[in-house]
Amino acid sequence: MRCAGEAKSDRKGDESMKIVIVGAGAMGCLFAALLRRAGLEPLLLEKSPSTVAAIGCGGLVLEDLTGTHAVDRIAITGDAAGIGPADYVVFFVKAFDTASAAGFAAACIGPATVVVTLQNGIGNADVLSERFPGSNVLAGITAHGATLLGPGHVRHAGCGETAFGPLHPSGRRSAEVLCDVFNASGIAARIDDDVHALLWGKLCVNIGINALAAILDISNGRILEMDPVRDIMRNAVREAVAVAVAQGLEFDADEQVARVEQVCRATQSNICSMLQDVRAGRMTEIEYINGAVVRAGRSLHCPVPVNAMLADLVRARQMLAAGKSA
Ligand code: PAF
Repeated sequence: MRCAGEAKSDRKGDESMKIVIVGAGAMGCLFAALLRRAGLEPLLLEKSPSTVAAIGCGGLVLEDLTGTHAVDRIAITGDAAGIGPADYVVFFVKAFDTASAAGFAAACIGPATVVVTLQNGIGNADVLSERFPGSNVLAGITAHGATLLGPGHVRHAGCGETAFGPLHPSGRRSAEVLCDVFNASGIAARIDDDVHALLWGKLCVNIGINALAAILDISNGRILEMDPVRDIMRNAVREAVAVAVAQGLEFDADEQVARVEQVCRATQSNICSMLQDVRAGRMTEIEYINGAVVRAGRSLHCPVPVNAMLADLVRARQMLAAGKSA
């Protein structure tokens, strides 16, 4: 797999394409930095005034295996109306923030704007489709490992697949254009028309990694180093696969477990997003990951005890981090 940062955009017209990235968290900053380094002019839309000020003054700093790179002249704003209608608006906020971010970004989403979600968790595409009923919505995944070290300062801790597709077949051409832009920017991407399977496949990755890493305070790679932890990971993923199969998806448990293990290795030093949230005392995406599988499993009469336990432990960690006891 080609790793990010190796390519320069040579597509005529990409530079004038208005790509807005909503959310200057780890993944939003990573994608903005990679697109900017390839010569494009992505715009970050961020609601935190202090983050807008920090990145507006200092730009982005990208750490990767090749060193530390300053990415300057990066446009960031908290005012969607000032941007005007964009070509693509890519959502990278936390799943629990999607509805409010959609409202915040609405002023830069015109009739021709393509709305994109590459977020973790289940439900983001539905929220965006309901909020922007006439819009072409692309949904998908990215398995890059990225850690936010401070406002605008991101460590790229592992390459992973980026894949997405249109919710409606008429949106395929827009998906192809964005896919070309990503590939030309060194973000290896592909189109996948089976968006439901794509999102549940990534959900299995997050099911296997995020809660365990957050509970145990370990990097992704360490999940594979301890037999009991690796067993819990495998059982959690197997439960999620059973729920996916009960929904009609043709998932194979061994394949999904192998995929999670591959992501653990590819992002071994990464502090996953849920652990970053717990450490920072922030709310996590647990309700959209393990919590979502528990809800779906119960409604389909699939047993989900491992995911229920993982979700409860993450909720307890969140409460401890927030200083709450009840
Ligand atoms: O949530 C995350 O951190 C990422 O989705 C992944 C792929 C698990 C890498 O850490």
